[in-house]
Amino acid sequence: MIDLTGGSALITGGAGGIGRAVTQRLITAGASVVIADIDTNAPAVAAQLGAGYIRADVSRPADLDAAVAAAEARGPLRFAHLNAGISSIVSLDDVDEALYRRALGVNLDGVFWGIRAALPAMRRAGGGAIVATSSLAGLVPQPADVIYSATKAAVIALVRALGPPLRAGGVRLNCICPGFADTPMVPSALRDAGFPLLTAHEVADAVLRVAGSDDDSQAYILQPGRELTAYRFPGVPGARAPDSTRSAVVPDVPWIQR
Ligand SMILES: NC(=O)c1ccc[n+]([C@@H]2O[C@H](COP(=O)([O-])OP(=O)(O)OC[C@H]3O[C@@H](n4cnc5c(N)ncnc54)[C@H](O)[C@@H]3O)[C@@H](O)[C@H]2O)c1
Repeated sequence: MIDLTGGSALITGGAGGIGRAVTQRLITAGASVVIADIDTNAPAVAAQLGAGYIRADVSRPADLDAAVAAAEARGPLRFAHLNAGISSIVSLDDVDEALYRRALGVNLDGVFWGIRAALPAMRRAGGGAIVATSSLAGLVPQPADVIYSATKAAVIALVRALGPPLRAGGVRLNCICPGFADTPMVPSALRDAGFPLLTAHEVADAVLRVAGSDDDSQAYILQPGRELTAYRFPGVPGARAPDSTRSAVVPDVPWIQR
């Protein structure tokens, strides 16, 4: 588990099933945690757990900046769990733009702008770890919730693309892809049918293992009854220069400030 001695952690969606379990684990280990959530019960959940609370809608970059500031006020920011997410089950015939934009706003913007907000604070802390909650639905296309599936796949691509340059600056970025977990988000039909579900605490333990590992840029799969595993992506054929003795030169892209 990640060592947060003297530092702080930010958990988005920390009032819900998985985020709440992560918060509980961290506080039991003595960490200082801030929950960022929009649920009306979130202040009570935070108070019960002994966490700080800020009302922050992760689809709004300014709210994420404020959430990072609230965590940093408690100590150098060493860990951010970008976890808030929503499902969006709707047929293509019935979908409207607001629902589509909301799903992208929470599930994808919330991670992108969460990373953007956390980065300067983690650099000030001398380094840190970010774990985003993706989903198995980001690796295995989910026809029952295509928008959700697309946002979770985008989170994986974001982590794989941004992970290496962030690592060079001392910040380790990974994501976790759980199968169905027993939280308010899971359809009750699955629970009723006896489908094997992860507990929120199993997911929380996996999140904290990933946060404490030396890895970066990985998508970890967690399924009931199986070991936590980093997914190994098959290779993709690369561009071949006309003169096949010469490999293509990849230019350095300096848009990420170190
Ligand atoms: N439960 C599952 O089966 C499962 C499986 C794979 C991945 N996930 C992912 O795990 C994460 C946590 O989900 P959960 O299962 O704990 O669900 P949950 O519904 O119990 O918790 C989600 C939390 O996010 C908060 N939230 C929603 N929109 C927000 C916003 N705009 N700003 C801030 N907070 C917001 C909610 O208030 C809630 O507290 C999500 O990203 C979800 O997609 C869940």
